[in-house]
Amino acid sequence: MSKILVTGGCGYIGSHTIIDLVENGYEVISVDNNSRSSSKVLKGVEKIIGKKIKNYKVDLCDYNDTHAIFMENDDIIGIIHFAAYKSVSESVDKPLMYFENNLTSLINLLKCVEEFDVPYFVFSSSCTVYGNPDEIPVTELTLPKPAASPYGYTKQMGEQIVSEFIKSFHANAILLRYFNPVGAHPSNWIGEMPIGRPANLVPAITQTAIGKLKSMQVHGTDYPTRDGTCLRDFIHVCDIAHAHTLALNYLIGKKNKAACEVYNLGTGNGVTVLEVIKAFEKVSGVKLNYTLGERRTGDVIAIYANNDKASKELSWHTKYSLEDMMRTAWDWEQHLEEDETLYGEQKAGDN
Ligand code: WQD
Repeated sequence: MSKILVTGGCGYIGSHTIIDLVENGYEVISVDNNSRSSSKVLKGVEKIIGKKIKNYKVDLCDYNDTHAIFMENDDIIGIIHFAAYKSVSESVDKPLMYFENNLTSLINLLKCVEEFDVPYFVFSSSCTVYGNPDEIPVTELTLPKPAASPYGYTKQMGEQIVSEFIKSFHANAILLRYFNPVGAHPSNWIGEMPIGRPANLVPAITQTAIGKLKSMQVHGTDYPTRDGTCLRDFIHVCDIAHAHTLALNYLIGKKNKAACEVYNLGTGNGVTVLEVIKAFEKVSGVKLNYTLGERRTGDVIAIYANNDKASKELSWHTKYSLEDMMRTAWDWEQHLEEDETLYGEQKAGDN
């Protein structure tokens, strides 16, 4: 079987992608220092796929420790690189921590791609690279505007580092620009597990609905959108996960026209913050306790994807609706509440 190294394998998108890769015949190992995740997530993955996934608890900013993984696994043919800090608001407060962590880890990995001749590299990028676009939906040819946050800059720079490296080395890469990943695996064994108060919309909604949070705030109601709240392209995490398997298949099948390709991973539908809340209330039957507040620094006003390129070239088609996203997110939050043995109190770094 083809062995794939998934960095950030204990994280939200990484864990869902491991499941899709294994279900599609790949052998997978993970590297995750659990600074923002719990290795217990792989127990949930094991319940779904029926096999253990080895995780190397290594900080990718440490070159020697990263190099040692490749020394031990000289049969890695592909890397999917998720591991990075990803909070828009936190990056505004701690820009140097974001540049150091997100870029050093990437450069160390690419050094190993070169030394160990790893042929395929998939980079976890983000729609934040577009900044505040002049026109929506955005295509892969939409020129990136200045990023709205240091997090967005780490993704813009990360894409440039990968594409420049690929020009100098005979590997092939795909950059996947996620829009807003939400929801959870239908089995309820894994899902989003923010540490501390959630910055992202959907976990804030589900934690408020279940009572973990007293209330939540809608950040800004005076934007130039149909109801005054920000507009996003929310997409189910399982649809995002499957796109990674298709991207690897595409590279391994040598179907890529360029050595470094980029794809938008969005549904192609824009939905506002208030519309997400209404969809959640409809699916859950819970009246959400929220207030209308001020804008949040670093927020993009409105963005959603034109996903024609991924649909056509990767044969990728989203399967989950907004209602499915809300339902799986809500089922997961309730399961977390009911089954303390599942993960207990989510803490970074726990084993
Ligand atoms: C969405 C909207 C908030 C919380 C995310 C990821 C980022 C990247 C892009 C992958 C905004 C509003 C939120 C709340 C609110 N994904 N909101 N009340 O900022 O689009 O970025 O997707 O790389 O990593 O963080 O997502 O969910 O934080 O915010 O009103 O309590 O919901 O202001 O308008 P964002 P988000």
